[in-house]
Amino acid sequence: MAAKIYTVTSGKGGTGKSVFAVNLAAALAGLAKRTLLIDVDLGMADIGLMLGLDNNKITLHEVLAGEANVEDAIYDGPNGLKVLPCGLSLQGFKKADISRLTDVIAEVSPNFEFIIIDTATGINHATAASIEVCDEVLLVLTPEITSIANGSKMKVFSALLGKEVTGMVLNRTMPEHAEAYREKLFKSVDIEILEMLPEDVSIPNSIAGKSPVVVKYPYSEISIAMNRLAASLSGIKMPESGEEKGRIKQKNEKKNRAGVKLPFVQPKN
Ligand SMILES: Nc1ncnc2c1ncn2[C@@H]1O[C@H](COP(=O)(O)OP(=O)(O)O)[C@@H](O)[C@H]1O
Ligand SMILES: [Mg+2]
Repeated sequence: MAAKIYTVTSGKGGTGKSVFAVNLAAALAGLAKRTLLIDVDLGMADIGLMLGLDNNKITLHEVLAGEANVEDAIYDGPNGLKVLPCGLSLQGFKKADISRLTDVIAEVSPNFEFIIIDTATGINHATAASIEVCDEVLLVLTPEITSIANGSKMKVFSALLGKEVTGMVLNRTMPEHAEAYREKLFKSVDIEILEMLPEDVSIPNSIAGKSPVVVKYPYSEISIAMNRLAASLSGIKMPESGEEKGRIKQKNEKKNRAGVKLPFVQPKN
């Protein structure tokens, strides 16, 4: 069976793509899903730094350069997550041949249930290749007009590559403005909001600790939201609060995601 491949992108930089990709992947792994996280930000790779895997010599750069086998560039992350980081050097950026990405992913795909691809900011060849190879595109946007405009453009770009955007994760939100985001800011944007992630100091703290927030602060609001999304993408039904029930039910029905129905499991520390 091939893995389900999600590409995380945004258009605008600094919206939280890498933070989201790391935490979605760790949350899926925490649900005992065989998950691979790949950093396809070839010029400004952050995943290795975020997970303390930045000292490894063999990375996606070497694999895309044809100098290394992909299995030698996959490392152990938290919760049993597997990580294919990208190197930090500009020589690595120069030698990487993005046209190899499809073959690399085809090689690893049978070994995983989920592959999460983190991308660079903006429209570029590596992001195009990451969208072309995926099953679903997830946008990470912030509640700012520039982020929304860039996200809308990314939706068009995805469509040009033959991929629909599954939905957006709205990051760095203020919970008291949740309805205003839905009613005003995003009313005209035809992209479903899958989750809202609050502005939370646990994010910079977890990055400093080289650990995903879902591992370091598993009971924070942001971790609960990440786990809820991971459960939803896995087809796992979890207990819902009264207010959320209707919305989540509607969302799940709409998505019609197939899969096993297991009790929700919190990842272990
Ligand atoms: N929900 C959040 N709360 C607080 N800080 C956040 C949140 N999401 C992201 N950040 C911060 O925003 C910065 C950019 O995040 P990053 O994931 O690197 O963005 P991108 O990959 O889209 O460029 C990071 O320094 C991170 O600490
Ligand atoms: Mg990034």
